[in-house]
Amino acid sequence: MFDNILLDDFTPPKTTTVERVLSVKHWTDTLFSFRITRPQAFRFRAGEFVMIGLMIAGKPVLRAYSICSPTWDEELEFYSIKAPGGQLTTELQHIQPGDGVLLGKKPTGTLVHDALVPGEHLYLVSTGTGLAPFASVIREPETYDKFKTVILTHTCRTGAELEYGKELVAAIRNDPLVGELVGDRLIHFTSTTRDDSETQRGRITDLIANGELAEATGMPALDPATDRVMICGSDAMLRDLKAMMIERGFTEGSNAAPAQFVIEKAFAGEGV
Ligand code: FAD
Ligand code: A2P
Repeated sequence: MFDNILLDDFTPPKTTTVERVLSVKHWTDTLFSFRITRPQAFRFRAGEFVMIGLMIAGKPVLRAYSICSPTWDEELEFYSIKAPGGQLTTELQHIQPGDGVLLGKKPTGTLVHDALVPGEHLYLVSTGTGLAPFASVIREPETYDKFKTVILTHTCRTGAELEYGKELVAAIRNDPLVGELVGDRLIHFTSTTRDDSETQRGRITDLIANGELAEATGMPALDPATDRVMICGSDAMLRDLKAMMIERGFTEGSNAAPAQFVIEKAFAGEGV
């Protein structure tokens, strides 16, 4: 039975606050998104992650989650896998509006503007739930102040897994706060690897290598002189893309030493 936090008689771990679930949307049988209250003191940079959790059998179970919201949002949005047998998500997938969730107090991460040197085009390359940090970055006005064009790529096994991203991008264009700023400067490129639902088929590594990404987006080939790249996906995807970036002359950046590309794991382990 799902054992949720009782907001009134529970003291959260010192590193967390208890927030209230505002809404939940299930996208597929393995993916859902949810929104929670944002404490007034909670500050983050677009692209960062934070610990999210539940009390399970009397103990806090916390996992890293990218914040999907832009920094100006009054609420916090997250996009989650339902990992088979996963300790947290087996419970988390059942949250309902009004339930309590634990929110860490210290967001952090490398998929941030501070870790990149200035450039003209910003590539946000994601697979699976690796889209989550970029849901924040593409809604952040700073992104469009710093870059002329933003290219968001999202590759999943099936078309159904692309829906959250598609709805998000469609909503941005009509958003009263950033819609006008974004205009046609945000390019959304999607591909699938295990069904025929998209026009573009294949792994993003292959679509970069064979020129199909450039052809579909109308952008020139990746160039360290003008392009900056943030990458989020599985270990295997990060390893392969990082090698491609280095081969093309890009240098990896960090908060301490900003450069031309940055990477972050979408999750630890082999994936589901
Ligand atoms: P776990 O015991 O953590 O994992 C069970 C199995 O599921 C493992 O094999 C694991 O590799 C696989 N798995 C876990 N997460 C994923 C995933 N996202 N996609 C595919 N396979 C997965 N998860 C999100 O759903 N959304 C996020 O925004 C997110 N951001 C993260 C940011 C960072 C920096 C890191 C390190 C991880 C992030 N994760 C994210 C993964 C998350 O921390 C948990 O692993 C996930 O919530 C599952 O927790 P669990 O306890 O149910 O299962
Ligand atoms: P594929 O279906 O060919 O494995 P996952 O759910 O395993 O994280 O995969 C999400 C997406 O990332 C899938 O479309 C998958 O393609 C793709 N992918 C997996 N490994 C790599 C890799 N090494 N390089 C690029 N894309 C990858």
